[in-house]
Amino acid sequence: MKNIVIIISGRGSNLQALLNENLGCSIRAVISSRADAAGLSFAKEKGIPYSVVSHRDHPDRASFDAALAIEIDRYHPDFVVLAGFMRILTEAFVMRYAGRLINIHPSLLPAYPGMHTHAKALEDGVKIHGCTVHFVTPDLDHGPIIIQAAVPVFEEDTEQTLGERVLREEHRIYPQAVRWLCSGRVRLGENGKVINDRSSRMDASLISPSLEET
Ligand code: GRF
Repeated sequence: MKNIVIIISGRGSNLQALLNENLGCSIRAVISSRADAAGLSFAKEKGIPYSVVSHRDHPDRASFDAALAIEIDRYHPDFVVLAGFMRILTEAFVMRYAGRLINIHPSLLPAYPGMHTHAKALEDGVKIHGCTVHFVTPDLDHGPIIIQAAVPVFEEDTEQTLGERVLREEHRIYPQAVRWLCSGRVRLGENGKVINDRSSRMDASLISPSLEET
């Protein structure tokens, strides 16, 4: 069975979704970059080892990342799962875990990398928004995509209502992505593209606003 370590910084709702599913792997530890991360309580509840590597204890990004890597490597994980981890990682860190490091991002990448994705989607008036699980590469929020979920954007949406709709989908696709990784069904090919052995294909579309009945 594969081992994973989950890294968080805050609320931890994706961590909670991962902990509540059968992922077909062993969650060896939860590590937070903040001592006050609410999400740590989910690790406590489940009796999963957890620790804090605080960015505040390190003068720069490189030394923080080095300390984080030492902590991660204590658990010898096959995969490192970023779940609401709010720090930008150095290239050295990302390359250390190449093909073994994944992240969830609240937009349909490559649209809206970075922060405030829901506000940007509303500002642009897009009708479809969503979330993405991807391998992490040095190019921030541009790594190879494993799975995405799309949701409609409604006229009356606020950042909050849209964010909640996207978050519900995050909680569905992240466990799926981790399950695929740990079963070996998904991996990063040598050409930098995602290989997914899943044979079934979806035949569906999301049209937003919906077409009128004729
Ligand atoms: C999620 O929207 C995730 O996509 C982004 O940060 C947020 C973390 O939320 N990377 P939570 O801590 O998992 O509740």
